[in-house]
Amino acid sequence: MSDDKDQGLARGLTNYGDRDFSVYLRNSFASSMGYSKEVLKKPIVGIANSFSGFNNCHRHFPELIDAVKRGVLLGGGLPIEFPTISLGEVFLNPTSLKFRNLMSMDTEEMVRAQPMDAVVLVGGCDKTVPAQLMGAASADLPAVQLVAGPMMTSRYQEERLGACTDCRRFWGKFRAGEIDKTQIGDIEGRLATTAGTCAVMGTASTMACISETLGMSLPGTAAIPAVHADRLRAGEASGLAAARMIHSPIRPSQVITEKSVENALRMLLAIGGSTNAIIHLTAVAGRLGIKISLERLNELSDTTPVLVNLKPVGQHYMEDFFFAGGAGAVLRELKPLLHLDTLTVAGTTLGDRLEEDPGYVDHRIISKAEAPLEPQGGLVALFGNLAPRGAILKRSAADPTLFEKEGRAVVFTSLEDLAARVDDPDLDITKDDFMVLQNAGPKSASGMPEAGYLPIPKKLSSTGVKDMVRISDARMSGTAFGTIVLHVAPEASVGGPLALVRDGDRIRLSVANKSIELLVDEDELARRRADWQPVNVPPEARRGYDRLYAETVLQADAGCDFDFLQPLDETGG
Ligand code: FES
Repeated sequence: MSDDKDQGLARGLTNYGDRDFSVYLRNSFASSMGYSKEVLKKPIVGIANSFSGFNNCHRHFPELIDAVKRGVLLGGGLPIEFPTISLGEVFLNPTSLKFRNLMSMDTEEMVRAQPMDAVVLVGGCDKTVPAQLMGAASADLPAVQLVAGPMMTSRYQEERLGACTDCRRFWGKFRAGEIDKTQIGDIEGRLATTAGTCAVMGTASTMACISETLGMSLPGTAAIPAVHADRLRAGEASGLAAARMIHSPIRPSQVITEKSVENALRMLLAIGGSTNAIIHLTAVAGRLGIKISLERLNELSDTTPVLVNLKPVGQHYMEDFFFAGGAGAVLRELKPLLHLDTLTVAGTTLGDRLEEDPGYVDHRIISKAEAPLEPQGGLVALFGNLAPRGAILKRSAADPTLFEKEGRAVVFTSLEDLAARVDDPDLDITKDDFMVLQNAGPKSASGMPEAGYLPIPKKLSSTGVKDMVRISDARMSGTAFGTIVLHVAPEASVGGPLALVRDGDRIRLSVANKSIELLVDEDELARRRADWQPVNVPPEARRGYDRLYAETVLQADAGCDFDFLQPLDETGG
């Protein structure tokens, strides 16, 4: 345990049973890095650097971290950068979510174990910001979240391209035979062309807006493009803010509160943000004992308008959102719905910030609250006998003509089964059927991948079918769209009702009633339940992190955190 009276290098000494020896030894080793004695007396701001050669979104971190260091020095602190693991979304197998908790543990433990008085967390790609916020919440040291910022868009012929809604759009065209191999090859090289996170309101941008709304990032920083000079100024300001917090500490537990979490949910709904963010915000809040109920999400969703016209729901890209006013403009429109007495790492309240920030707004991209894009929020939780603990539908990215519908189930029992059969010309499926994917939840071997966006079978996509009802215990990329029911809990791998669905069963979806029902009588379901066999390799036959994950990961409605990472009073410990 660190002693809060101690500061800088004298914090949290290595224990040799002789405090003075520990100080002497640490100073001696720190001196070997070329620091003067004067510098070594300074308070320390750690900089958690998630740069990696396997993370294209963090390509610019060396320059960004230099800016953070400048800010720390301006504030009278000593900046010391340290590495944590990084999670490059598309470089991880089976899926990046599986390693979010590992990164959160790395962040928490290194923030706690190393001698720093405050920390700047530098992340961006989808799972990195949730992991850093989770770690910071548990370590509860003054912390500022600095995000990577979004990529700029590119061009293919006359079309503007941005990762990764357009990745999916063009892949859909390729599958449907509308473009050829040469064209898809050209597009592949033009989708992601600068440093930064995906260029649409995907998970990374959603989490950036959430972090700013929570108060963990400095006001105005969520949407600045990665390559814009303002991003470097945001880095400098974040370093300075962290240095200031050494003398006036503001801890994550003061910033992430029930009220700020509710504000963050409003932001998520108003921006038509990623479904993944529900899982991440639940996990972040859960680290401080704050529970997010899906029933409350529905109440907020019914009273929060969708304001932001960005892909994948709308037309525009993150750079347009930045120039249109960014998260601050959305917060100003939402002001009557927000708790204004929440604290930010700038040392002001959200209310202060909105008073001071008259800012320009481009209403072509960020609507006025009185003339929203949609009167209700982008996400809705569904309940019913198919999802007793809830499921999520991103209604703002779905086809409303499919919202009140009954269909015949076409079941895929695993991702492998899906891959093997989805394009089989003999697959018995029509556009009115409901595609069901089982065993892709958090405890499955696949670790809840972004596979909920089941591909439309080729035999249907080639006839122009663009959307169908798809149901699974998996997740969906924040950049995807479609009538897709996700995060069904409990999942099939633990014997949840999703595991009991058979080909030909009838399922009823009602977005109006917020329900998803399997229309099979209870006696038949009881018979199927009695016959159910788990398909997973049992945890005791797994090893290492894979085993830890299988044994301790919680369901989607609890944020897929590990049970032992919850606060002690949550687990009875
Ligand atoms: Fe990093 Fe999309 S791949 S944010």
